[in-house]
Amino acid sequence: MLMKVENLAISYNGMTVFSDLNVELEKGKIMSLVGPSGCGKTTFLRCISGLTSPTSGTIQLNGCDITKTKPEERPVVLMFQQPLLFPHMTILQNVTYGLKYGKRKLKKKEREEKGLAILEKVDLGSHGERYPHQLSGGQQQRVALARALIVNPDLLLLDEPFSSLDPSLRSSIRLWVKDFLKNEGVTALFVTHDREEAMIIGDEIAVMKDGSFQQTGAPEEVYQNPKSSTVAEMFSEGVHFEESFLPANQLTIRPVSNLKVSDTETIRAVIQYKVYKYGHSFYHLHVPSLKQNVVVSSSQLFNDGDHVDLTYLRSSVQPFHNEQSTIYFTDKARQSR
Ligand SMILES: Nc1ncnc2c1ncn2[C@@H]1O[C@H](COP(=O)(O)OP(=O)(O)OP(=O)(O)O)[C@@H](O)[C@H]1O
Ligand SMILES: [Mg+2]
Repeated sequence: MLMKVENLAISYNGMTVFSDLNVELEKGKIMSLVGPSGCGKTTFLRCISGLTSPTSGTIQLNGCDITKTKPEERPVVLMFQQPLLFPHMTILQNVTYGLKYGKRKLKKKEREEKGLAILEKVDLGSHGERYPHQLSGGQQQRVALARALIVNPDLLLLDEPFSSLDPSLRSSIRLWVKDFLKNEGVTALFVTHDREEAMIIGDEIAVMKDGSFQQTGAPEEVYQNPKSSTVAEMFSEGVHFEESFLPANQLTIRPVSNLKVSDTETIRAVIQYKVYKYGHSFYHLHVPSLKQNVVVSSSQLFNDGDHVDLTYLRSSVQPFHNEQSTIYFTDKARQSR
């Protein structure tokens, strides 16, 4: 197991951010961490990198307890939201900075060789002599990634690295980064607000809320089988009741009718608006009785403001199976669930 976090807790001035986080992450895996603003995602990464000391609990890396190890002595690199490149240094100098001092110190020639090699890998081989302001936002993030990986960390922590990029650049760079990390066999924890991004990048998803991991698992598992209304609301698509979840793909939009069909239930909804995507019409609906919104595709024509019925088979409702918040990222553990 590359990383093992046990009973990690942190409080600021008596206010608990999280109280009992438990995570295991296998070598070569990428875990996406999603959760609402302020739930403690950055704090968790800071604890792992050593920038923040946890109140209690332990962090192990490669079987060694690093809870009290200084940040610079941990084989971990944290990459922030902004590339944070030194403006007065060239791209090559920025990338090789981590090899200049401390334990990883190398001679200038070696540093430059390594720097050029990693710049080639991030497709910026011809940009080494430029300065950060002469690169685009996406290119700067690739430099930041090269700078992080040049020191060969055992664990890479990425804190919303693409959130400052515009949407089209963001979607192309995230695919590129995913392929890159997988080809290099990097183990990473990746924080994002974006569900789609979490699913694209992560081998595993961890949904964090209210100071704990609410659910973890393969992206499709969490998406299709939320274990609680909290996870359903944050990560899945559909409507949720107190004790169960109804996936959006099980809903059919029909004109309002009082006709009862056996085995079928109906909820009233209002069409808010329609979007065309991937060759289909998707209706955004509000369900007043549940105070929820849902998106359902339909080939029938409805207008904004129409009152409609959403029908579904009773058998398509999935009861929640609440489980504890401990997560294990071994394949064995996943199979046994
Ligand atoms: N140094 C600090 N002192 C006091 N409180 C802090 C400190 N750092 C973070 N907090 C609090 O801890 C909580 C978690 O913050 P954190 O930055 O980890 O959230 P986050 O999940 O990364 O949020 P976001 O998605 O907005 O980045 C917040 O309530 C924040 O106000
Ligand atoms: Mg944060």
